[in-house]
Amino acid sequence: MERKYADIEGDGGSDILGQVISQQERLAERMKEIGQVIAISSGKGGVGKSALTSNLAAALADEGFRVGALDADLNGPTLTKMLDARNQNLYLKPDGVEPAIGVLGVKVMSMDLFLESYDTALSWKHATGLAEDAFVWRGTIETSTIREFLADTIWGELDYLLVDLPPGANHLSTLARWIPGITGLAVTIPSGISQLVVKKSVRAVQESGGKLLGLVENMAGYVCPECSQISPLFNSKPKGQRMANSLGLPLLSSIPFDPRLALGCDEGKPLVLTHPNSPSVGEIKLLANKLRELS
Ligand SMILES: Nc1ncnc2c1ncn2[C@@H]1O[C@H](COP(=O)(O)OP(=O)(O)OP(=O)(O)O)[C@@H](O)[C@H]1O
Ligand SMILES: [Mg+2]
Repeated sequence: MERKYADIEGDGGSDILGQVISQQERLAERMKEIGQVIAISSGKGGVGKSALTSNLAAALADEGFRVGALDADLNGPTLTKMLDARNQNLYLKPDGVEPAIGVLGVKVMSMDLFLESYDTALSWKHATGLAEDAFVWRGTIETSTIREFLADTIWGELDYLLVDLPPGANHLSTLARWIPGITGLAVTIPSGISQLVVKKSVRAVQESGGKLLGLVENMAGYVCPECSQISPLFNSKPKGQRMANSLGLPLLSSIPFDPRLALGCDEGKPLVLTHPNSPSVGEIKLLANKLRELS
């Protein structure tokens, strides 16, 4: 392909721009083999993005779909644990890196697979050798790392690639620059605080032209593990429908809190596989079916 840009002057001949362009070309080629790329997003932390990603991945794989899961939370990666894909060696091949394999064959890529131990924190060294420079450039470095995970993982043919995002408003818009067909789910919980923040992040995505499939209200009630009765978890009734209406989005799912789902995340055993009769699983499976219709 003919270069559209001149090489950056003074980059020591390393042709950084050329490397980025060829990486984006590799990324585009990989994405051609993937049916739907869906990012699980939220402006708020701790609302269940990763728990939802892992259970959705398992639900889709259980239906026979080929599923990949990219953990885009570089500083707090949890998908390898939730999908039982830890402690695996990564194999470097001429065309990229083989992903780890989690439950039901879900292909997983995560920073967790590159860190020395579970307790190792992610830190970067800048080419200048100065920690301050790495700190200043951290956002840029992390964005490039996610692009690299997308471009250089041998995803192969997939029906779905789910991307588990860290909390924040702009990640989906960044991904959309490389993957024009990407869509997102916005996750909230019934608390007023969460709704306040998630509304802002949804607006930010909408204003930047990002495409959200809909809203998911997680922790909408509490499932009694003994009798499966659902009782309120937060003081107020779930307000997901009202919030979805105000944002012009469909409410795709209201998933209650089931303590066994949290335990399953900790043990790498998604609830959709261990307790298929839980009301939470019913909602997650319905959501998986809706994703098929929305494709
Ligand atoms: N519906 C649910 N039922 C039971 N436990 C849940 C449910 N949703 C999430 N959890 C639990 O709540 C905790 C927070 O969820 P999770 O880590 O998925 O949030 P997150 O939005 O990914 O957080 P972060 O923003 O830090 O990435 C986890 O322990 C998870 O297992
Ligand atoms: Mg998470």
